[in-house]
Amino acid sequence: MNIHEIRSSYLDFFKRQEHAVIPSASLVPENDPTTLFTGSGMQPMVPYLLGESHPLGARITDSQKCFRSQDIDEVGDNRHTTFFEMLGNWSLGDYFKKEQLRWVFTWLTQEIGLNPNQLYVTVFRGNESIPRDEESVAVWKELFSEVGIEAKDVDHSERDGMQGGRIFYYDDTKNWWSRSGSQENMPVGEPGGPDSEMFWDFGETLGFHESSEFRNEPCHVNCDCGRFLEIGNSVFMEFKKTETGFESLPQKNVDFGGGLERIAAAAADDSDVFNIEAFAGMRTTIESLSGTKYQDDTNAYRVILDHLRAAAFLIADGVAPTNKDQGYFTRRLIRRAVRFGRNLGITESFCGRVGAQVISEYAPMYPKFEEMNHVIQKELESEEEKFLKTLGKGEREFKKMFERAGAISGEDAFVLYSTYGFPIELTEEMAGEQGQEVDRETFMAEFKKHQDLSRAGATQKFAGGLADHSEATVRLHTATHMLHQALRSVLGDHVEQRGSNITPKRLRFDFSHTEKMTDEQKQQVEDLVNENIQKDLPVHYEIIGLDEAKSRGAIGLFEDKYAQLGGKIKVYFIGDEATDEYFSKEVCGGPHVERTGELGHFTLKKEESCASGVRRIKAILD
Ligand code: SER
Repeated sequence: MNIHEIRSSYLDFFKRQEHAVIPSASLVPENDPTTLFTGSGMQPMVPYLLGESHPLGARITDSQKCFRSQDIDEVGDNRHTTFFEMLGNWSLGDYFKKEQLRWVFTWLTQEIGLNPNQLYVTVFRGNESIPRDEESVAVWKELFSEVGIEAKDVDHSERDGMQGGRIFYYDDTKNWWSRSGSQENMPVGEPGGPDSEMFWDFGETLGFHESSEFRNEPCHVNCDCGRFLEIGNSVFMEFKKTETGFESLPQKNVDFGGGLERIAAAAADDSDVFNIEAFAGMRTTIESLSGTKYQDDTNAYRVILDHLRAAAFLIADGVAPTNKDQGYFTRRLIRRAVRFGRNLGITESFCGRVGAQVISEYAPMYPKFEEMNHVIQKELESEEEKFLKTLGKGEREFKKMFERAGAISGEDAFVLYSTYGFPIELTEEMAGEQGQEVDRETFMAEFKKHQDLSRAGATQKFAGGLADHSEATVRLHTATHMLHQALRSVLGDHVEQRGSNITPKRLRFDFSHTEKMTDEQKQQVEDLVNENIQKDLPVHYEIIGLDEAKSRGAIGLFEDKYAQLGGKIKVYFIGDEATDEYFSKEVCGGPHVERTGELGHFTLKKEESCASGVRRIKAILD
């Protein structure tokens, strides 16, 4: 059965148990400021679980789209996805444990055809505030015995592994559900309750446990070796956290959530959820664009499959890629997928094409995909295009930073973010591949400083007087440094920067000097800049102490806020590091080109007075 058949079967089954079928809510929660995304089926149901009456009655069922941003880094193994559909059924003060466990067991074993021998369950062990869930244990024993299985209940212990058990007791870190997790983490007023989870056993013979990092631990259903997969969770939501403990909610609720793709994986008895049919079209597209096969690099494929499917669903719910709030996650997903796509050797634009496969797979269930078809593809394509413009350069910059310091500092990470559009998490991931961590605190401090500055008004709007970080602007920015140095060489060391403004078309540089420049001086300045462009000098920066910067002869605005990083200062050097001979050393926040050869030809267009004792030059590159 594919996911669409399983979804229909589930909704039909619960409809037969007198449940009202409701459509999935948006991935962006309405009226819920506590969270950015809908991460579980119960989230939109919270008011009803707390006692408000539902217009459609006390029995509700649905298949809810979910996005768990916190799982982005988990994607790559055989079972984690950021986006998934959660099959749900709710009793709002109506039926309870007996009916719930029987229905789910019946649906899974009879309608989906899962072999009960491969099903294992867990229940709440009990503690000083809430008793052990004996009632669920009794129901499970009966259900298993009806299919000829004697279900032994055992207290889970890490040391003893399976102990021949079928029903396992766990504490509230595993068998308790609330939006905030364990009992201890719940804020006052939050609803929660003990739960009973179901696991599918892919079998020891597959050798997961033997070959995994968990091979020295005895296997149990909740261990992470991959043999067992949680496919459903019945939460008995009957409590509310108080100042001193728990009190009963006005009604006893059931909140069931079952991972649709995971159930499909169990039904196929294939432990890889990315092997389900829903991914087949996307997978083929990636295979043909990259000339590789899924098995060649399952990790990269899984990241691309998961991330682009999630991004398509997010865009369909109105979350286009941006730099903040929900949109930041769409951006992160697409950019991460793009990087993995490059690693697979894809050279063409692929996000829109993979997106088209998501649309054709899901449009029959989600009509929005049909309506938003063009928007989704366009957003995916343009985000990919944007990132590709800076990805290569950013990766080279990353490499240089890494080689220079053996690590990526928080400041470096901010440069990668602001100049090359690398989400911090991507930089962290790349550093992680080299066995290094990034100092996120420093990154955040930089980020905040930048935000504060960009709020500080129009005149200060652009770092170092740059209108943007386009290639043309960056080239002119490097040319400005060279001009500054050339003016000092020709006119004398009294020349100091008084202002700078750069657009993609021209640079404008104000400096201290009292007389009009002669034609000869102008020619000398132009020649000096062009000579050094032709030398194709490398450009690099170092973050050093203020005193060191001065003693090494750096010029420029030492008070430049953009160049100041945690008591240190960023200095750009134009010239050969090996000989330590530089044409220019200047305090600056960047960004700059990698080599002066990229600048082309420098022409001084105008030299005029700007204020008393200040001259202004306009110049271009072509
Ligand atoms: N709320 C529970 C979960 O998300 C069951 O729906 O697992």
